[in-house]
Amino acid sequence: MKPLRLALFGFGTVGQWLAEALHTRRAWLEQEYGLVVTLISVATAHHGLIYQSEGLDIPTLLDLVATRQPLTAHPSVTHWTNALEGLQATSGDVLAEATGATLRNGEPGVSYIRAALLQGMHVVTSSKGPMALAGLELLSLARAQGVQLRMESTVMSGTPVFSTIREGMAGTRIRAIRGILNGTANSILSAMAQGSCYAEALAQAQALGYAEADPTDDVEGDDSVAKTLILAAVAFGRALAPSQVVRQGITTLTREQVQQANAHGKRIKHVASLRLLSLDGTEVSRETADNGLVPTRLEARVEPLALPLSDPLAHIDGLLNAIAIQTDTEASVMVVGPGAGRFQAGQGMLADLIAIGKVP
Ligand SMILES: NC(=O)c1ccc[n+]([C@@H]2O[C@H](COP(=O)([O-])OP(=O)(O)OC[C@H]3O[C@@H](n4cnc5c(N)ncnc54)[C@H](OP(=O)(O)O)[C@@H]3O)[C@@H](O)[C@H]2O)c1
Repeated sequence: MKPLRLALFGFGTVGQWLAEALHTRRAWLEQEYGLVVTLISVATAHHGLIYQSEGLDIPTLLDLVATRQPLTAHPSVTHWTNALEGLQATSGDVLAEATGATLRNGEPGVSYIRAALLQGMHVVTSSKGPMALAGLELLSLARAQGVQLRMESTVMSGTPVFSTIREGMAGTRIRAIRGILNGTANSILSAMAQGSCYAEALAQAQALGYAEADPTDDVEGDDSVAKTLILAAVAFGRALAPSQVVRQGITTLTREQVQQANAHGKRIKHVASLRLLSLDGTEVSRETADNGLVPTRLEARVEPLALPLSDPLAHIDGLLNAIAIQTDTEASVMVVGPGAGRFQAGQGMLADLIAIGKVP
């Protein structure tokens, strides 16, 4: 049996799903994976950190949230108002970080993740901000500390992108990645392909709950840019700044442009792409990628593109996301699946936790 003492930061949609899954699947996780997870601490913005060495009672925590009571009402807990100080005092084997970290500076996630890694804890995170803005630094720190930092939920939610790249495709050299990484933008473009104008498609997505009241992050590409930066760090080992991603949103696309593409047998999609280029701007050859020693630069773009129907990404519609990974040994591997949703985000964290449980 592998015991894991877990600190859970963020007890909102994703954090609660993960806690509930750990509780309801406890016997199965033990039987199937030999994993015994004890939730020793939970931190939120409003309640700070609560800690119980023997393990917090998950149904009690969920009941407290459901009845709008403070988490500090859980029996026999030690409480820190400052969650970071609480983490440093109580530690654990793994930090599960699911706070609403911002894309502006990655906080509070960056500070929590860094502190946990420095304490020798493994980390799983669902927050894009920290991984987009400090991904390479945090991955290097994890490596130096001899622990794992996993972030499956940050790109395409629970759809296995990073385990595919890091484990399934281990040993290959990735030369390029293209993806449809934002379900809101994709569902708007799908509706426009059916004849709606942008404003109608957005209003429909908002009515169905697919788009926020303020959809800027999704339709102007900020969300896809963040995911592109995470892929740059994990798949290519490169730290890019948001300003290094060529970015164009979908807000200025007209119904006529979309219809015209349709008439020419194409589909307009909001495509995120990363491509290794030689310094003279030409595509890196298989041999160059293979020896890995020739200087290259990584081109990063998020933009609407008219894709021919022969391109598998042209057929990804609605809320679906997809990523096509081009390597030196395989022509192109595609992963398709949902890109959002609380079950999916929690599932990505659970899969990361199970992967950490397999570390000897
Ligand atoms: N929901 C999804 O479908 C989804 C999918 C993929 C990735 N994600 C990512 O997963 C993360 C969590 O998402 P969510 O939907 O669960 O968000 P959420 O429902 O807003 O919950 C966020 C939680 O983080 C806590 N928090 C905020 N600031 C904190 C701080 N400084 N210290 C400690 N805790 C803090 C909040 O505390 P209070 O309760 O006190 O406010 C809350 O419990 C986000 O980064 C999100 O982008 C979400």
